[in-house]
Amino acid sequence: MLKADVLLGLQWGDEGKGKIVDVLTPKYDFIARFQGGPNAGHTLEFNGIKHVLHTIPSGIFHPTALNIVGNGVVIDPVIFKKEVDALTKMGVDVKSKLLISKRAHLILPTHRLLDAASETSKGKNKIGSTLKGIGPTYMDKTGRNGLRIGDIEGNDFKEKYNVLVEKHKHLLAHHKFEYNLAELEPAWFEGIEALKQLQFIDTEHYLNNAMSSGKRILAEGAQGSLLDIDFGSYPFVTSSNTVCSGACSGLGIAPNRIGNVIGIFKAYCTRVGSGPFPTELEDEVGEKIRQIGREFGSTTGRPRRTGWLDIPALKYAIMINGVTELMMMKADILSDFDVIKVCTHYNYKGKKIDYLPYDIDPKFLSPVYEDLKGWGCDLTKFTKKEEMPKELVAYVKYIEAAVKTPMTIVSIGPDRKQTIML
Ligand code: GDP
Ligand code: IMO
Ligand code: MG
Repeated sequence: MLKADVLLGLQWGDEGKGKIVDVLTPKYDFIARFQGGPNAGHTLEFNGIKHVLHTIPSGIFHPTALNIVGNGVVIDPVIFKKEVDALTKMGVDVKSKLLISKRAHLILPTHRLLDAASETSKGKNKIGSTLKGIGPTYMDKTGRNGLRIGDIEGNDFKEKYNVLVEKHKHLLAHHKFEYNLAELEPAWFEGIEALKQLQFIDTEHYLNNAMSSGKRILAEGAQGSLLDIDFGSYPFVTSSNTVCSGACSGLGIAPNRIGNVIGIFKAYCTRVGSGPFPTELEDEVGEKIRQIGREFGSTTGRPRRTGWLDIPALKYAIMINGVTELMMMKADILSDFDVIKVCTHYNYKGKKIDYLPYDIDPKFLSPVYEDLKGWGCDLTKFTKKEEMPKELVAYVKYIEAAVKTPMTIVSIGPDRKQTIML
């Protein structure tokens, strides 16, 4: 039996997962999302077209691969319908290429309202959520109140919907949050009708049978390891397990059937939303990275916070995920820097440490850097590893040695073709 590979982000999201899934899809029969929802924005570029996906896996543009939305994902029918409509316009036959787990949970309009109410009540301590209703939907899942895709097929769907909405109305009243639900519901029910055009399946049976018959699966993570509900910078995290174990629970694939774990990271760091960020640059260097890297959110358009590469945080993510190979993204963005700084250690409560501790609040922790020489040339036209400047080769080797994991891809531009295989 073949094993399923998992691809996930090792930082705070937006590492470039969408691009790499698109690059790797020809090697796979199935691309499966296992957690998160439309808080994700995964960007692909090819033939001059740029496309952002939120719920639909990044294998959707390839002719043969089937795409799966697993049980661990939360789906907003409104956003989902928009995605399907946009893809259909581009000539993608979504119906024949997308399967959805009956166990995936639905994001209700009131979940989005609750997200907004919760953020408002937190004031300056807000999480910086994408406000897509992710947290409240996972809360209803673990609270055993949620509505699932499989419920859509039942005769009592509307009744179940009403019961849950009643609960939410009480909570919204408690928050003293003003809203107009009647304005939001028609689009939601239209989205439900659009969902009904697709195939709802038992993805756990389907994927395990596929593996038994020699099919190759790539599980596509959303967000990043440092946003994981357990291992991220809590409470400034998302509400799902973004790490490798999430692929097991979010698809029904047993741990001993996981093969390669592909960890994606940027040559520097970004974070969008609130929470601690040890290597953050709040100066002109950070601004330069943001401008050259076009670091603005794919889902919300918010400016992303920027900083240097953080090795202790990378090591932590590699450990938690069992990463077997690394892929480094956006190397081209650092071409303009004579010196590239890398955080190798932290000063933590008066001691120098080389691991990510429990509390990364800047009150206790500050980064210790080493300076590396920049490559100072445009990388975006290169196609082969032999063309890589020696300083970039040295940067790759430095990281591989520091985190004891091999690197297999260096990405040098947003397009499919701007990918160097090592
Ligand atoms: P994801 O959420 O991990 O899929 O990443 P996003 O799509 O949110 O953000 C990554 C951004 O960087 C997108 O705009 C990509 O088109 C772009 N991108 C990906 N890889 C590269 C690269 O190697 N170089 C450059 N310049 N841009 C890249
Ligand atoms: P992709 O898959 C970057 C961040 C939000 C916020 C926190 C909680 O594109 O990498 P949520 O909406 O989940 O309640 O937000 O997590 N966040 C992301 N940041 N990339 C993402 O997804 C993100 N999804 C959520 O900014 O700080
Ligand atoms: Mg993104």
